Amino acid sequence: MNYKFPAKRLRRNRMKAFSRELICENKISSDDLIYPIFIIDGHNKKEKIKSMPNIFRLSKDLLLKEAEKATKLGIPAIALFPMIDPEKKDKQGSYALDSKNLICSSVKLLKRELPHLGIICDVALDPYTSHGHDGVLINNEIKNDETIRVLCEQALIQADAGCDIIAPSDMMDGRVGEIRKALDKEGYINTLIMAYSAKYASSFYGPFRQAVGSLNQLQFSKKSYQMDPANSNEAFHEVALDIAEGSDMIIIKPGMPYLDILYKIKDKFKVPTFSFQVSGEYSMISLASEKGYINRKNAVIESLIAFKRAGADGFFTYFALETAEYLRSNSKNI
Ligand code: PBG
Repeated sequence: MNYKFPAKRLRRNRMKAFSRELICENKISSDDLIYPIFIIDGHNKKEKIKSMPNIFRLSKDLLLKEAEKATKLGIPAIALFPMIDPEKKDKQGSYALDSKNLICSSVKLLKRELPHLGIICDVALDPYTSHGHDGVLINNEIKNDETIRVLCEQALIQADAGCDIIAPSDMMDGRVGEIRKALDKEGYINTLIMAYSAKYASSFYGPFRQAVGSLNQLQFSKKSYQMDPANSNEAFHEVALDIAEGSDMIIIKPGMPYLDILYKIKDKFKVPTFSFQVSGEYSMISLASEKGYINRKNAVIESLIAFKRAGADGFFTYFALETAEYLRSNSKNI
């Protein structure tokens, strides 16, 4: 590049709004958004989540209304996260395998009323276990192969309820391959798998754990299955394995602190790759903007464009509804 000032002035392109628009390299649209929603038992219930201002746990009837809003705004998919009554939790997370449980009945309702909205269900046991871990706990260890057997069944009942995308978020070794086999064997050949492939043991999940009620139950960390934030090469192995085992799409999680991982993975594998802007990221932006330290709308859009720039095909974000609203109302001002 033979750039010489003053003949070359990069500010010339930036000087007016029209030319800024012309040279803009990345845009987000409502098609990029996946909206995570917390659900609870009951009717007409909308519970505040202390750690996540403006995010609520919704009973099924209100979930349906929220999902309708998402559809109207052009959001292609939602992801469901249940808060389970503590009385239904046990060491094995048995309620995860009840085909009439909160998640399955919610999926059935949504599929009946809004058949075109994509539904993503987590496959992991943490909302259901009394110890808050994603897998089966035996002798103080989260057992890999025993957990996979349970996860396969969990995936099957969710697929049977009508879930479009099974999203294993547990980080057990080999689970994607076994889940794919189990789904295929039962005829669910078109049920997608979106693996949380590079999922880090992150402190940014704190508000989520409060939202699903697993925070106070955790006696030790998830570091024996979730990745060390210091590692990057390991993410390639995780992603390569999940793709080889049959994952259709992959997730890098959390979002903003792991843009380097997202970029490298997308660059190398070129598969549909999603970023998860997690609860802690949501709460940081929300609380700083509540205080007036940052502008909420601008900070949200900037954070999502960063995912796009780094190579994401889409992103899970608790800001999905408001983002879709911003995009609809005045996209030119962003
Ligand atoms: C659990 C799960 C977690 C999240 C999604 N699925 C938390 C964890 O692994 O402890 C985090 C989402 C968020 O923080 O928004 N399998």
